[in-house]
Amino acid sequence: MKPLMDNYQRQIRYLRISITDRCNLRCRYCMPATGVKWIPHEHIMRYEEFLRIARICVSRGVDKVRITGGEPLLRKGLIPFIRGLKELEGLKDLSLTTNGVMLYSMAEDLKNAGLDRLNISLDTLSREKFSHITRVDAFERVSAGIRRAFDVGLSPVKVNVVAIRGFNDDEIPAFAEMTLNSPVEVRFIELMPMGCATRYGECELIGAPEIRDIIEKRFGSLEKVEYKHGPAQVYRIGGAQGTIGLIGALSEHAFCSRCNRIRITASGYLRPCLFSEKELDLRIPMRQGISDHELELLIEKGVGMKNLNHRLCTGSHPAADQGCRTLMSSLGG
Ligand code: 5AD
Ligand code: SF4
Repeated sequence: MKPLMDNYQRQIRYLRISITDRCNLRCRYCMPATGVKWIPHEHIMRYEEFLRIARICVSRGVDKVRITGGEPLLRKGLIPFIRGLKELEGLKDLSLTTNGVMLYSMAEDLKNAGLDRLNISLDTLSREKFSHITRVDAFERVSAGIRRAFDVGLSPVKVNVVAIRGFNDDEIPAFAEMTLNSPVEVRFIELMPMGCATRYGECELIGAPEIRDIIEKRFGSLEKVEYKHGPAQVYRIGGAQGTIGLIGALSEHAFCSRCNRIRITASGYLRPCLFSEKELDLRIPMRQGISDHELELLIEKGVGMKNLNHRLCTGSHPAADQGCRTLMSSLGG
């Protein structure tokens, strides 16, 4: 097997597939309340097209696939798609990121189809604040969905918290506390200057080191959990069942050097880096009938477009015009 290598000796082992740009929430840092320009239906990739790309990537050493959105549970046909991915020989880890709104009723089917695990986005533990940040009153549904994910064994369950000063910084200890008696991984994500978050300023960003300080002040020093592949630095409060992940996309110097991923957007663009507008269209060539070999060469080309780093880690939060204009919902985080 010839691994997929970029130009900086990083091997690509992780494919993220955004299956839809639609969402049933409107998180303020992600989407405007109204007026989102959706991808036209005919430009949305068919599941067979995603499977074809995934098959080639897995044959070249990708062993981890994540399904994202928008909100992936909204798209019909997801369960057979998961089964199809699960059949790919060499795939070791199949996961999905969801906002949890529809999870309660779908968790069991997801598990039975072969999904290994889930990340659930939840930025607050208060119903009122949830309604504010997502513009939808769905906190109870998401909570029930998270409990259901544990019940059906979709573990480890990870809860993604985007840290925003003035919104949920006061809840960082409460989120950390969730790990004491539950095998959950709570992951704090730095607010990235993407989509609607470009109108947030430097003052709303809480860096990973500060989050760590806040947690250590309350719970004592954190133990480092052995390095796992992935963007998070993982810690544990002494004696806790669960873990705490810190994703320092902006503050952490070495973040990009560990990058092992590529993304496919809902309209079939290969996106080499979340923070770069560079992308490579796979949909049109695929619909024009290119062979598997030609598609593999295109994927190699896309991998070769990966930047060494995102150049956002300049110490300060980038000005709005430097941020990436693409909506996060069309990239899947
Ligand atoms: N910065 C950080 N995380 C973001 N997400 C969406 N927009 C941003 C942003 N600007 C997160 C969601 C979800 C994941 C898919 O991406 O909250 O957890
Ligand atoms: Fe939907 Fe996720 Fe964007 Fe929130 S952050 S609006 S849940 S895609």
